[in-house]
Amino acid sequence: MGLLRILDVNINYRLKSKVVKAVRNFSLDVNEGDIIGIIGESGSGKSTLAHGLMRILPKNGNMEAAEIVLNGRDISKISDAEFDELRWVEMSIVFQKAMSVLSPVHKIFDQMYDTILAHRPETRKEEAKEKLLGLLSVVNLPSEILKMYPHELSGGMMQRIMICLSLIFNPRLVILDEVTTALDVITQGQLLDEIDRLVKEFGLTVMMITHDIGVVNELCTKIAILYAGELLELGNVKDVIFSPFSPYTKALVESHPDLNPHGSGLKGIPGTLPDLVNPPEGCVFYDRCIYREDRCMERKPDLVDFGKRKVKCLRAGEING
Ligand SMILES: Nc1ncnc2c1ncn2[C@@H]1O[C@H](COP(=O)(O)OP(=O)(O)OP(=O)(O)O)[C@@H](O)[C@H]1O
Ligand SMILES: [Mg+2]
Repeated sequence: MGLLRILDVNINYRLKSKVVKAVRNFSLDVNEGDIIGIIGESGSGKSTLAHGLMRILPKNGNMEAAEIVLNGRDISKISDAEFDELRWVEMSIVFQKAMSVLSPVHKIFDQMYDTILAHRPETRKEEAKEKLLGLLSVVNLPSEILKMYPHELSGGMMQRIMICLSLIFNPRLVILDEVTTALDVITQGQLLDEIDRLVKEFGLTVMMITHDIGVVNELCTKIAILYAGELLELGNVKDVIFSPFSPYTKALVESHPDLNPHGSGLKGIPGTLPDLVNPPEGCVFYDRCIYREDRCMERKPDLVDFGKRKVKCLRAGEING
């Protein structure tokens, strides 16, 4: 069943003399129970999209959307006060810079309790503690952690705390922005297992933002490939990773040590993202694409529906093998 429908989202940042067009014409349907990986290299607009959806863009950021339907309600049209009611409750986020969210001078429980009180002032301490202990056990954290200060926690523990915090009000949708990025491989693996368990136990739907296609392959059911603010490919994880239709997806897979089908001959992707102040009129990946043809530069390809997946490339499906 459809939980979130994002239609034609555009997000800009105003700077002194120019406008950065960070996300352009982005659409996505998220079904209940999906674990959808949003992947793209640094600067492709992943956090921007997440912040736009949560309505927490910085002052110079502006989002326009044809519609954003969450649980059957178009939340792109509601007032800020109405949005405050649903943020964290229906949809929450774990920030990319999670560490900076916690205050260094207060114990973990006090901070989490304060967060609960901000939305539910009537909550008793024991009630909050019970809820938190339930969440902590799913992410393998001991109860003693509640008495600790943030600096006493490892990076992995901190991320687990932030995930618990995001789930306090039982949102059905949670956006995880690079939650595994700063962790060692073992901790990352444990955290992915725990997220998987949370999804099953709480019936969560997850948007997992990452630049690591390996993480998406391990955890996610669907994948959306974002490049320079545009959606280039969308589909089931295994279909897309093991038979990419977009040259950019193919290059991403080939530049991953565990997924590269050609064994050890890792390929990078030479070049950099295009200028987002003046994004290209044709295909946004043109400059770096080894399959490009002149026609790709002339006009922007449509996002074409191939049944189980959508792809934005004039040569979609031709490039395999
Ligand atoms: N407050 C801002 N003002 C102006 N430009 C911004 C602002 N925040 C982000 N940008 C620009 O928007 C684009 C997208 O940035 P964003 O942080 O969303 O990328 P990202 O995909 O999350 O990257 P990363 O993987 O590094 O987290 C970049 O070009 C970035 O420089
Ligand atoms: Mg980011």
